[in-house]
Amino acid sequence: MGALEGRVAVVTGGATGIGRAISTRLAADGASVVVAGLDKAEVDEAVVALGPPAAGFVGDLAQPGAAEDLHATANDAFGAVDVLVNNAGGGVILPTLEHTEETLQATINNNLWTTLRCCLAFLPAMRRRGYGRIVNIGAESVRNGLTDHAIYNAAKGGVHALARGLAREFATDGITVNVVAPSYVRTDALDAALAAGTAPARLRKVLDDAVAWIPMNRPAEVDEVAAAVAYLAREDSRFITGQVLGVNGGSSMQ
Ligand SMILES: NC(=O)c1ccc[n+]([C@@H]2O[C@H](COP(=O)([O-])OP(=O)(O)OC[C@H]3O[C@@H](n4cnc5c(N)ncnc54)[C@H](O)[C@@H]3O)[C@@H](O)[C@H]2O)c1
Repeated sequence: MGALEGRVAVVTGGATGIGRAISTRLAADGASVVVAGLDKAEVDEAVVALGPPAAGFVGDLAQPGAAEDLHATANDAFGAVDVLVNNAGGGVILPTLEHTEETLQATINNNLWTTLRCCLAFLPAMRRRGYGRIVNIGAESVRNGLTDHAIYNAAKGGVHALARGLAREFATDGITVNVVAPSYVRTDALDAALAAGTAPARLRKVLDDAVAWIPMNRPAEVDEVAAAVAYLAREDSRFITGQVLGVNGGSSMQ
């Protein structure tokens, strides 16, 4: 029997990249998974690929009301939610002074507001049931100050800090709140952009820097991030809360 048999998990940004690997891993461990994302075609494809029991939700989780709609969708599909993985995000990676109003808003919205709104929408029911596992996807760059990541780190740093505060506040409610913080992770989208030569030269430098700072001398694979999330999603990780778990090949150590 899988460690998540009978559990219900919601993975935001769960149709693509790291989130897709997380959805796949939690489903393999026995969970019913609700995949949330911005793009209907991507979400539909992921739900079909996962097979039942899986459900989808399409919406911008940075906007008021969407996280509550996601919670209702998950409840209607499978009943109460045990696991919330706040993976939605992604950086607009630019030198700080090259950011525009639009890229600033997108960076904070997609990484921080999605996470904050989902926590607020899911925590009341978790507290009533006395059970919950929340895993936020943060970033190693918060710790190592990676090239061109200042604005992204302002958002992800908020994600780390939110987890610590919630972990303390809900510690006696059977709810744990942790962060998985990856360094550079190879995804199909990044690989394709690099292979096609469409990635800006500056982004190549950022990724080269990231790998140079990793003692294992390579990026992470998506399933290596998913494995850490799956552990923190389990019932028996119950005494681990408020932690930032680096999946970083040793890029920072503590
Ligand atoms: N790839 C890396 O090197 C890396 C490193 C550290 C952290 N991360 C983080 O891991 C997570 C996944 O990144 P990825 O590389 O797989 O990127 P990705 O672009 O494949 O995935 C991001 C997903 O989030 C969803 N999303 C974004 N904004 C949303 C919103 N407002 N509402 C609903 N859904 C939204 C998108 O639909 C997409 O499915 C992100 O939080 C990213 O910041 C990635």
